[in-house]
Amino acid sequence: MPLTVVVGGWFGDEGKGKVVSYLGLVDKASICVRTGSINAGHTVNYGGRYWKLRIVPSCFINKLTRLMIAPGALLKIDVLFREIEETGSRGRIWVDANTGIIEDKHIESERSNEYLMKVIGSTGQGVGAAMIDRVLRVLRTARDFPELRDLITDVSREVNEELDRDGNVIIEGTQGTFLSLYHGTYPFVTSRDTTAAGIISEVGISPRLVSDIILVFKAYVTRVGAGELPGELSMDEVVTRGWAERGTVTGRPRRAAPFNIDLARRAIMLNRPTQIAITKFDALFPSIRGRRRWDDLPVEARRWIESVSEVLKVPVTLVGTGEDSMDMIDMRREVVGP
Ligand code: IMP
Ligand code: MG
Repeated sequence: MPLTVVVGGWFGDEGKGKVVSYLGLVDKASICVRTGSINAGHTVNYGGRYWKLRIVPSCFINKLTRLMIAPGALLKIDVLFREIEETGSRGRIWVDANTGIIEDKHIESERSNEYLMKVIGSTGQGVGAAMIDRVLRVLRTARDFPELRDLITDVSREVNEELDRDGNVIIEGTQGTFLSLYHGTYPFVTSRDTTAAGIISEVGISPRLVSDIILVFKAYVTRVGAGELPGELSMDEVVTRGWAERGTVTGRPRRAAPFNIDLARRAIMLNRPTQIAITKFDALFPSIRGRRRWDDLPVEARRWIESVSEVLKVPVTLVGTGEDSMDMIDMRREVVGP
């Protein structure tokens, strides 16, 4: 009964959408559950098309996968319906009755909050304000909205039953370890626990049912919004290295720093992954772009990956080499080494 949890190792934007979409296809996920909320943008490139998703699970590219939104997640109804159309997922997507609903008043409340917008650098999507209402027990949830009636299910039950049938379930985390409300760089964090434990608690599954935790590290570190970023490079240097990116939800330029082993160690401690995925590896070694086999990597690139596995004492099993979901070296399927 394989249950895989995908977690971000940095400050979000590690490429979880790509990893989840790849796993959904290759591992034939029967269910994929999205946690978190619409402040998190997950990008999926597949077969020459791309999608920027804020709520629909990234596994949607596998048409056989049932897509679910966790009870602990929060969505905005117009965003959900727009993405259902864009991804062609009508008829195979479900929302838990307890999933929280973000309303316009939550967005207005955040955008008029100077501390949140100027000091913290919030994405201003109303997620924190809706979380406040949830804690005060006044937030309306999916069960309160007739337009969601046909989508409602019991996500925890569906996932548990699927695992009992030996189905393959993927839980898609959002943001990254150091944006966790409890374990991140408080107060420069988001409004939920983004670590593996927080992610499964949003779905309603026992930690005993987790078979794999995949921690995703981009080959360099990025951060949008305020807060410390060890080893931060000047924007000129970021551009020179070809690491310039913009936020999926807000369009803000992302700050960047080189891969940071101390930060990675702490992310390993907080999540205790069984595997590591490295994304955007072609940003460090441009010649490997689009390669899909370990043996096709030059020796310096292989050494880089091997040293990360050795130092962190967790195997790197997935290496992203390009934008397409299938641009991936999958060492779970290859015998690696001399
Ligand atoms: P909020 O969660 O939108 O209030 O934003 C709080 C902090 O988390 C800000 O620094 C945001 O830029 C950051 N943040 C929130 N969601 C994401 C994400 O999906 N990727 C990267 N940063 C995020
Ligand atoms: Mg993102």
